[in-house]
Amino acid sequence: LNPKSRVLYARERALDVAEFRRVLVESGLGEHRPIDDEARLREMLAGANLVVTARLDQADRPLVGVARGVTDFCWCCYVSEVAVSKTAQGLGIGQGLLDEARTQIGPRVTLMLASYSNAVGFYERIGMTRWADSFLFKREY
Ligand SMILES: CC(C)(COP(=O)(O)OP(=O)(O)OC[C@H]1O[C@@H](n2cnc3c(N)ncnc32)[C@H](O)[C@@H]1OP(=O)(O)O)[C@@H](O)C(=O)NCCC(=O)NCCS
Repeated sequence: LNPKSRVLYARERALDVAEFRRVLVESGLGEHRPIDDEARLREMLAGANLVVTARLDQADRPLVGVARGVTDFCWCCYVSEVAVSKTAQGLGIGQGLLDEARTQIGPRVTLMLASYSNAVGFYERIGMTRWADSFLFKREY
C-alpha cells in the first residue's frame, strides 16, 4: 500500500457483505468471526446501525478498514469490530475509524468495545480508558 494514498472515512448504510468479509479475513479478525456463514455476516451488517469504513481514494475505492457498532446515538455505542487489512495496518487507519465513529455518535455517547489481547496496546495508545468492571453473557455459538 502506498502510505501516501488518501484514506476516505464514511458511515455506510449498505456495505457489501463480500467486502466486509474480505477485510475481516485480511485483518486477522476473521479468525474470531463467522466468515464461513455469509447469512450471519449479512445479519451482522443489517442489524448494525453504525458501520464506518476506510477506503483508499482510488478509482475502485478499495475497502481497507471497517468498524461496526450498534448505538442509540444518544447514550451508548458498542463497537463489535475494528478491522484493518494487514497491508494497511500501522498507518493510522484504526485510529481514523474510531475517530469517525466518535464524530458520527457525538459527544453525548460513550463508545465501548472489548479488545483481543493483541490489540490492547492499540486501544491504550489511542487514549481509550480501560474499564475493569465490565461484564457479559457470552454467546453460545
Ligand atoms: C488493531 C487494529 C484495528 C489497529 O489498526 P491500525 O490501523 O493498524 O492502527 P493505527 O495505525 O491507527 O495505530 C494507532 C497507534 O496505535 C499503535 N498500534 C497499532 N496496533 C497496535 C497494537 N496491536 N499494539 C500496540 N500498539 C498498536 C500504532 O503504532 C499507532 O501508534 P503511533 O500513533 O505511535 O503511530 C488493526 O491492527 C487490526 O485490524 N488488527 C487485527 C484485528 C483486531 O485485532 N482488531 C481489534 C479487535 S476487535
